[in-house]
Amino acid sequence: MLDPMKFIDEKVAWIKEEVGDRKAIAAVSGGVDSTTTAILAYLALGDRLTVVFLDDGLMREGEPEAVVELFNRRGINIKLYDVKSEFFRALKGLTDSEEKRKVFRETFYRVLGRVVRELGAECLLQGTIAADVVETRKGVKTQHNVLEQIGISPKERYGYKVVEPLVDLYKHEVRMVAKALGLPPEISERRPFPGPGLAVRIIGEVTPERVELVRKATKIVEEETKMIPCFQAFAVLLSDKATGITENGQRKYGEIIVIRMVNSVDALTAQAIDIPWDVLKRIRKRIFEELPSVVRVLYDITDKPPATIEFE
Ligand code: XMP
Repeated sequence: MLDPMKFIDEKVAWIKEEVGDRKAIAAVSGGVDSTTTAILAYLALGDRLTVVFLDDGLMREGEPEAVVELFNRRGINIKLYDVKSEFFRALKGLTDSEEKRKVFRETFYRVLGRVVRELGAECLLQGTIAADVVETRKGVKTQHNVLEQIGISPKERYGYKVVEPLVDLYKHEVRMVAKALGLPPEISERRPFPGPGLAVRIIGEVTPERVELVRKATKIVEEETKMIPCFQAFAVLLSDKATGITENGQRKYGEIIVIRMVNSVDALTAQAIDIPWDVLKRIRKRIFEELPSVVRVLYDITDKPPATIEFE
């Protein structure tokens, strides 16, 4: 059983040792893993740490503002970089799931490399956790933040050292550490969100328009399922289209949105939730009202395995 206070003391000392007298950055996404990592790094390094948020255009609505506010409130220096166009350029035209993941990873670390150099830092603190490594090693999918464990040297490839204090923990243990660090429940209990963001919830090409659609659908699903305890609840945009009819009886060829809601402890396995029909109907109503290009809403009843949690 993890002793969170002991873990914090040990990891703060370990980060000090790993970083030495260099400067470091911590890349945060608004999730519990990266936020916990950044706070541990701040305790270890103080002003030698800069927290960085890359606004890649693939985040949930309101995320950049919420993250900046969280760190500002704690008096921790955070810098936001608007790199949306760079990510959309890199992802343009790509439809293969693994290719998209690899291009996301390359863009992410290349941009971070620039930030690291600009800030005169030499180390990158990131919130990789055990499940990320296990799944990438097994070849389930290329998690964006797993490098050394699959033979990529960040120092050689991107020019900086990567430091990962949470790499032996699973999600529920990270939540214990987050709580012990005094992070609010909005963070410590936050539903996980993948590093490549909404890109892994879009089958086919990732364009600003398609991201905007899935972002709005995700917001609806998150709002309408707020009161239901679960590991993750989100929307996915399929690449196929389907036939529907408009109010005045015309044929309409439109988008298909899938709603996915799962329970899980460690993200290695997951169970589709028996979601109340009323909740589904509320989500469906809002999606049709607020997103007129959608003609069909489906609910995914698949567990992991055989599916994964995300679609890509
Ligand atoms: P899958 O889809 O592999 O997801 O069953 C397992 C858990 O990991 C999250 N996920 C990611 N997290 N980088 C991340 O930081 C990634 O590339 C990535 N891909 C999936 C997913 O949201 C779920 O919680």
